[in-house]
Amino acid sequence: MSGWVALFACILQVPAAAPRATQDDSKDERVLIGSVPFTTPEVEAILELSPLPSVPPDATNAVYESEAAARFGQALFFDTRLSANGEVSCATCHVPAKDWTDGLRVGVGQRAVSRNTMSLWNVAYNRWYFWDGRRDTLWAQALTPLEDPREHDFSRVGLVHVLANDADYRRAYGDVFGKLPDVSALPAAARPGDPTKDPRAVAWDALDADAQDTVNRVFSNAGKALAAFQRELVSTDSPFDQYARGLRDAKPYEQRAITESAKRGLRLFVGKARCVLCHSGPTFSDLEFHDTRVDGPDVDGGPDIGRFQGIKDVQADPFNGVGAYSDDPTGEADAKVSYLFTDGHAVREFKTPTLRNVAMTAPYMHHGRFETLAEVVEFYSTMDGAADRDVRERLLVPVGLTGREIADLLDFLESLSGGGIDPQWMRAPEKPYLDQ
Ligand code: HEC
Ligand code: HEC
Repeated sequence: MSGWVALFACILQVPAAAPRATQDDSKDERVLIGSVPFTTPEVEAILELSPLPSVPPDATNAVYESEAAARFGQALFFDTRLSANGEVSCATCHVPAKDWTDGLRVGVGQRAVSRNTMSLWNVAYNRWYFWDGRRDTLWAQALTPLEDPREHDFSRVGLVHVLANDADYRRAYGDVFGKLPDVSALPAAARPGDPTKDPRAVAWDALDADAQDTVNRVFSNAGKALAAFQRELVSTDSPFDQYARGLRDAKPYEQRAITESAKRGLRLFVGKARCVLCHSGPTFSDLEFHDTRVDGPDVDGGPDIGRFQGIKDVQADPFNGVGAYSDDPTGEADAKVSYLFTDGHAVREFKTPTLRNVAMTAPYMHHGRFETLAEVVEFYSTMDGAADRDVRERLLVPVGLTGREIADLLDFLESLSGGGIDPQWMRAPEKPYLDQ
């Protein structure tokens, strides 16, 4: 009998006797379910990463939170009529079933662009848009691909005609922005550009300032509706979020949401691997720009200089948050755009991308250089192949991970894929307006 007692005592002792200390400095270690104990500072760092708060407001877009605007924008998002050849929509590159990206190294519309298509999951949490941040709001961003010759290659006047010639769109526009102006006297296609190369630019220059303003107003409103739609594309409640909730509320069951290996990867992420220095906060991005020294091929005969050009472009954009089409050009929009300046640091910097759902959005980096997440993590480990620079990003050093650590970090990144959204958002709506 005493043998059984001893055996029970032994079993009961297991948790206390288990080798808890894997690090010497872990004096105030917490005992957690599983084999990966975290220190209090580690737990604090982990809880900064979850949950995702509600979508931030955008004062420059008065219809940002309007359901009718979201429905209208959803129809525009899937509409191939808004392109030169009638074949390209936003969803051509931002494919809903591919986590709002395309699986290609670089996006292809009328022809290839020079950068990797960004996923639209949680896009509304960003401060800047595009890899170089050349747009400051989600609605101004949407206007750019519509006229980019490599993407939709459409014209803003053409867009107003599409709306005007479609009774459903006329109603949708009217419900959100008021009556669509009469554009029947305007040419079929016109847009700003180089008049020596594009007849549509000649047609644009021939319009008087009032007509241009009328068209720009409708064009920017289309962007605001597209933004209201994209605001809905929120992915959260990943296994990692469940785990973090379990950690916060001391709920052992939820702490089983990720594997032990993913927990070790998480410890690396907030510690030795230094990822959290840039991939911070609940979006896993500091929302700013860094030079990871993964250069791509030249673009138009020169290097892609990223943020350096992006700052100039966002300040020159007539649709930026401080411009005539913004619904609140003061306050935050002004603070963001007006005081930016370019210096050498911005050269070749790109936006820190979110890591939520990252396992679904290969290939990686601004030019799609890495095919797999393993390649990305191996790069951070050794920085082999990193371009040489006189001035270097100080936060980035080779972190020297073992094979096991790389596998753990990859398991952690896999745990960041969140739940989907209501499938009604993932296809063109039957009507671009809400039923009354
Ligand atoms: C030809 C493919 C293609 C089409 C068509 C396209 N996009 Fe994109 N999208 C991209 C690429 C590539 C990038 C990154 C480009 C860059 O940084 O220069 C991008 C970036 C974005 C971003 C920025 C995301 C971020 O985190 O900064 C948003 C938002 C977006 N697109 C929405 C749209 C909308 C809305 C449309 C339709 C009006 C559209 N896109 C049409 C390929 C495309
Ligand atoms: C100095 C800031 C910084 C640090 C530290 C950092 N990253 Fe990044 N990360 C970036 C930037 C900036 C990019 C985009 C670079 C580009 O496209 O050229 C990026 C891109 C990525 C991508 C590609 C995502 C995509 O959608 O293309 C992954 C994955 C990634 N980082 C994971 C990590 C991991 C894991 C760590 C830690 C080992 C880490 N990062 C450390 C700034 C950083």
